[in-house]
Amino acid sequence: MKSLEDALNHRRSCRAFQSTPIAAEELQRLLAPALRAPSNCNTQPWFFHIASGAAIERLRKRLPEDFTAGRVSLDFPYDGKYDGVFRDRQYAAANALYSAMGIERSDREARNEAFMRNFTFFDAPHVGFFFIPEGFHEREACDLGMFAQSVMLLLESAGVHSCPQTALGFLADSIREELAIPAQQKLMFGLSFGYPDTSAGANDCMTDRMDSSEAVVLHS
Ligand SMILES: Cc1cc2nc3c(=O)[nH]c(=O)nc-3n(C[C@H](O)[C@H](O)[C@H](O)COP(=O)(O)O)c2cc1C
Repeated sequence: MKSLEDALNHRRSCRAFQSTPIAAEELQRLLAPALRAPSNCNTQPWFFHIASGAAIERLRKRLPEDFTAGRVSLDFPYDGKYDGVFRDRQYAAANALYSAMGIERSDREARNEAFMRNFTFFDAPHVGFFFIPEGFHEREACDLGMFAQSVMLLLESAGVHSCPQTALGFLADSIREELAIPAQQKLMFGLSFGYPDTSAGANDCMTDRMDSSEAVVLHS
């Protein structure tokens, strides 16, 4: 097991996985501490649905078809347009990924192919989906984020890599229907996870971070 600091420093979004699955009982045991994540008034407003085996294979077939056919359904609005420093960081992260994958920025077809791999979970053996109850807003989304980061760090501490994916939120209805999830659960994003394929260029992608003094402002 890695220390918390190691897990935070070493976690990176993984975009190529080995097919080796993790046993269901092992997953339940590994993820149980994430339930200790804090939430407003201890409401614990999260649902985490994990698809493996036949369930993930059904989704792997259906999601690219639904997206390509324009059967897009979002529970929360998505813009994806940023200005100023946020746009600079968005472009820097995209450049880091494309150069790790050997894709030219001008090569639209290769970029589209890379994007479509979101819907086949980068070949991961597991995909999870993070939901909050219908009618809940920003505060509960923050609770969900804390739960999700706890999940990612627990996975990382056990050598299991992951990729959070807003792209999977574009197909909320398809995912709910395929996994028989009630309409009252609203999808924020997905998480592909498994053991990394260390030979894939996509997994060499390193993103920058601002200096801690820019984000952590001490007042006295
Ligand atoms: C909520 C959330 C949604 C994301 N959605 C996607 C996605 O749809 N596809 C993808 O490849 N990466 C996605 N990412 C990964 C980010 O691009 C990545 O976290 C960021 O560039 C920093 O890189 P790192 O995770 O390797 O540190 C998402 C990350 C978060 C936190």
